[in-house]
Amino acid sequence: MDRKISVIIWGATGFTGGELLRIIARHPRMEVVGAVSRSKAGTPIGAVHPHLRSAYRDMNFISPEEGGGIDAELVFLALPHKAAAETAQKRISAGQKVVDLSADFRLRSPEEYRRWYETEHPCPELLERAVYGLPELHREEMSGADLISGVGCNATSAVFALLPLAKAGLIENARIECRVGSSEGGAEAKEGSSHSLRSRSLRVVSPFVHRHMAEVVQELGLAEKDISMTVTAVELVRGIQCIAHVTLKERLREADIWKLYRAQWSKEPFVSLSPAKPAHLRIPDPRFVMGSNRVLTGFALAEDGRRAIAASAIDNLLKGAAGSAVQSANIMMGSEETAGLEMMPLYPA
Ligand SMILES: NC(=O)c1ccc[n+]([C@@H]2O[C@H](COP(=O)([O-])OP(=O)(O)OC[C@H]3O[C@@H](n4cnc5c(N)ncnc54)[C@H](OP(=O)(O)O)[C@@H]3O)[C@@H](O)[C@H]2O)c1
Repeated sequence: MDRKISVIIWGATGFTGGELLRIIARHPRMEVVGAVSRSKAGTPIGAVHPHLRSAYRDMNFISPEEGGGIDAELVFLALPHKAAAETAQKRISAGQKVVDLSADFRLRSPEEYRRWYETEHPCPELLERAVYGLPELHREEMSGADLISGVGCNATSAVFALLPLAKAGLIENARIECRVGSSEGGAEAKEGSSHSLRSRSLRVVSPFVHRHMAEVVQELGLAEKDISMTVTAVELVRGIQCIAHVTLKERLREADIWKLYRAQWSKEPFVSLSPAKPAHLRIPDPRFVMGSNRVLTGFALAEDGRRAIAASAIDNLLKGAAGSAVQSANIMMGSEETAGLEMMPLYPA
């Protein structure tokens, strides 16, 4: 049991790639044997991720050609969609287990993929064997899998806010609002990521409909016509606060909702319920999960008992990406589910 699982990370120069490197540096059962980059092959990892210099003192990025030649047991793909699917296909043919972070294997249907990502899926035949990468939804299927998908960070926040109500069939409609930090857009400089332009703005990135809605519909079993999803970029680097305004199918009491949320989340190692009091802690704030794989969920009910706010907070780079990916990989590889992920949030941050 002392032998560690060999891991290669593709897209290791990016934000989620950096988080995978950080987590695995202290993982008791995984060891990074390759960090792949097209643009930085030969460069020390610490030159791109200065905070990781001490953990990867003697390791340089390697090229995709070198990465393809290393026989690692487990591969994480922190690549943009489409590039991820093409790499996954090759890694699976080489007999490696793959955990993807991109959108390529999240949706079950190639038609839905085409509709939401406006491109043909490069390997639709793999969609059926991919398990959606949220252990809180698909833990059992992960142990025998060889391909686990990424999760949309906004979709993840919506799932944690709404799952107990959705499972109980109580949602008539939900208006999901996600307030998100700039790291959601990745490390590459692009229109909209300039500090001068983005800082202090409240930019509504996608009014009403966001791609991650496809995952919410699929994973929560809600009808598309009954939900909307608006994403607003706010003054954060990391973090998502999801606030879903829900009309309930029937009148409920607060105690009913507490019961549903406790039943759903109390056994989950990374999920906590926000307290009812004091009032300012009732609706989850991403500040309290920053830098960790933790999730906060909470709710408030209007006096009429039919309108509720269901909410959650996550760190997009962790529970919304690299953290869930490692948690899923732990299950797939037969390790302790929480291994490498027990770091507490940074506060204040
Ligand atoms: N950021 C988030 O909060 C978040 C949350 C959930 C899921 N995700 C998903 O995770 C994946 C990575 O996101 P990220 O935020 O880490 O992105 P990122 O910071 O832009 O990093 C992606 C890395 O992939 C490599 N790359 C870019 N284009 C490529 C291409 N065409 N072919 C091969 N490699 C390419 C680049 O490295 P080199 O140029 O060095 O090769 C880049 O550093 C994306 O699919 C994203 O949707 C991100």
